Amino acid sequence: MGSDGRDGLTNLHIRNVRRDELEKLVPLYLEAYRGLEEYAEHGPDDTLDYLEWLYATCPEGFYVAELDGEIVGFIACNPRWRGPNDAPTCEIHEIVVSPRWRGRGIGRRLMERAFALGEKRRCPTATLWVGVGNKRAREWYEKLGFEVVGSWGRWLRMRRALPAREPVKSAHDD
Ligand SMILES: CC(C)(COP(=O)(O)OP(=O)(O)OC[C@H]1O[C@@H](n2cnc3c(N)ncnc32)[C@H](O)[C@@H]1OP(=O)(O)O)[C@@H](O)C(=O)NCCC(=O)NCCS
Repeated sequence: MGSDGRDGLTNLHIRNVRRDELEKLVPLYLEAYRGLEEYAEHGPDDTLDYLEWLYATCPEGFYVAELDGEIVGFIACNPRWRGPNDAPTCEIHEIVVSPRWRGRGIGRRLMERAFALGEKRRCPTATLWVGVGNKRAREWYEKLGFEVVGSWGRWLRMRRALPAREPVKSAHDD
């Protein structure tokens, strides 16, 4: 799908989350993980703690997708993450899209934003953990170019190369 309106996403706005919006994301997160509870935080308090941790760790990598003023999804990534052997990577910690808005390319647009940030920060890869039983997300990641590179208990490690980027010209080129 493109971003020219054919997918009905003309009004989709992706922007950094504000700290005072984290609470609003709690019901969205819990709804998105219905049926996948074994891979999710349990209950509103733990979820809010988790979202606050994501924000504190990397506010620049935490984006929301807003459609006509409603937050319909979010992604939290960290381009200053270090993988095994201290390898730099853009870690995708979390991505969720409201079940009502799935299949329209919103997840893809959020992921593209994370890739762009990772490339800008010169990360050679994007990486993530996905639950072994989260088949739909796993297949979706594969379509986005990720491949399974390892496992740990009920989690799979996935990785994708990020294209090289021209040298950053200024510190204010956002
Ligand atoms: C994974 C997730 C973020 C994808 O978001 P999305 O906005 O639906 O993603 P997109 O619209 O870009 O792509 C969805 C693709 O999955 C397919 N799909 C499969 N099952 C689907 C379903 N039940 N609803 C919508 N799309 C579905 C679509 O056809 C589409 O395929 P395409 O890329 O060939 O068009 C979303 O499903 C989600 O929030 N899942 C629950 C949370 C989760 O598992 N997060 C990942 C944790 S590691």
